[in-house]
Amino acid sequence: MSKNYIGLEKEGLESVVRELNKYLGNLNIIYTKLHNLHWNIKGAAFFELHTKFEEYYDTVNTDLDAVAERILTLGYTPAASLKEYLSLSTIAERESKDATPEESVEVIRKDFSYLLESSRNILKLAEAANDQGTVDLMAGFIAKYEKDLWMLNAFTTK
Ligand SMILES: [Fe+2]
Repeated sequence: MSKNYIGLEKEGLESVVRELNKYLGNLNIIYTKLHNLHWNIKGAAFFELHTKFEEYYDTVNTDLDAVAERILTLGYTPAASLKEYLSLSTIAERESKDATPEESVEVIRKDFSYLLESSRNILKLAEAANDQGTVDLMAGFIAKYEKDLWMLNAFTTK
């Protein structure tokens, strides 16, 4: 088996990179979706949620850069066009229309839960490929989404 320039077996990395590119596509969809909700949120919680959704998309922006740069670090080319993101992504976009606080929080909770599951799956693949850098990246995302989900649940618990 051949190793890449950072000493990782190329064989196991193929599936890690394939999933990382899908993850990157999903992050790009969510980045736009969070803007959609940031702009279209209506109601008494406007100021609170408008600000919160901006915080989320800023974090997603940082995260998608980290994922793309991890793919480059592994010796591959990250998807870098909207067309590719749309075809790689496995989560749905949201129509451009008004949003209630309940719908917004539900949409985000669902997508963050999906990313949490994806992070766990990629972590397992990366472990199998002895790719500790990706394991570490995913472990950070897992803890972050778990915390976000705790807060999103707290928001809707009566
Ligand atoms: Fe804004």
